[in-house]
Amino acid sequence: MTRQALIIDCDPGVDDAVALMLAFGSRELDLLAVTAVGGNVPVAKTARNARILRQIAGREDVPVFMGADRPLRREPAGAGEFHGAEGLGDMAPFEPDAPCAEGHAADAIIDLVMGRPEKSVAVAVLGPLTNLALALRREPALAARLGPLAVMGGARSEGGNITASAEFNIWADPDAAAEVLATGCEVVMFGLDATHQVRATTARIAALEAVGTPSAGAAASMMRFSQRVERRIVGWDAPPVHDPCPVAWLLKPDLFGLKPCRIAVETDSDLTRGHTAVEFREAVAGALPHRWAVSADADGVFGLIESACGRGD
Ligand code: BDR
Ligand code: CA
Repeated sequence: MTRQALIIDCDPGVDDAVALMLAFGSRELDLLAVTAVGGNVPVAKTARNARILRQIAGREDVPVFMGADRPLRREPAGAGEFHGAEGLGDMAPFEPDAPCAEGHAADAIIDLVMGRPEKSVAVAVLGPLTNLALALRREPALAARLGPLAVMGGARSEGGNITASAEFNIWADPDAAAEVLATGCEVVMFGLDATHQVRATTARIAALEAVGTPSAGAAASMMRFSQRVERRIVGWDAPPVHDPCPVAWLLKPDLFGLKPCRIAVETDSDLTRGHTAVEFREAVAGALPHRWAVSADADGVFGLIESACGRGD
């Protein structure tokens, strides 16, 4: 079996943490690197959190690179109220044994992708797209070389979660998202329309906890924190678990329904900054170079998380 080569670009973040546990435990993936970006919390914390999670999962073989500490041309925002001040919910952070790898995340992405066969490396982007935009600026040939860019971001039917019309990852750095979408990369976007179908019910969290490994315990603790916070802020009993979706799709594409489309991002308006305009009509859009997730099999996604967290090698 050929394993899918993958880079995860993320801002852990409680749901990023679950996505990392899914990837660390999935030996069907050849996880080349984790790259950290400032988003939910500043980049020094997201990079540290990625290293903490890597240590818990026993995957120190995977390098972690630190990337952009601020969006291309906006002030950093943050989403600490949904992730905890340190980004890991209730988990007390600690200084991990292994440091970050040398070099900037954007350069690491360039080196890893350009050094491998065309289209063979997928990138899952689980935070603002700043690192990807920087990499594509530094090496324009990267766009044609990248495999699928599976992005958690955007909203269409569901409306936004940070403003009425925008989802956090796109809103945090709309300029980066717009640049990446315009490069011709093969972008597959998992926005709130799909991720709101993947919810951590009390029963699903308990089932994950019952797996009993450190990875499962960490992932379940992230979901319990989210459940408490979303109940208080949004009034939801079962919080959406966004970031594992792109990773789950790479593992098992038939868990998601995708539709060809053209996605553009609002960068100018203060009111609708970060809105994703998703056009499905070829007659209007011309070509449809992107794909948009419209449905998700939540039991299937949770099944993958449980089995990945259960692997103790
Ligand atoms: C996205 O925003 C972040 O707060 C989460 O980690 C996720 O990537 C959901 O809108
Ligand atoms: Ca995230």
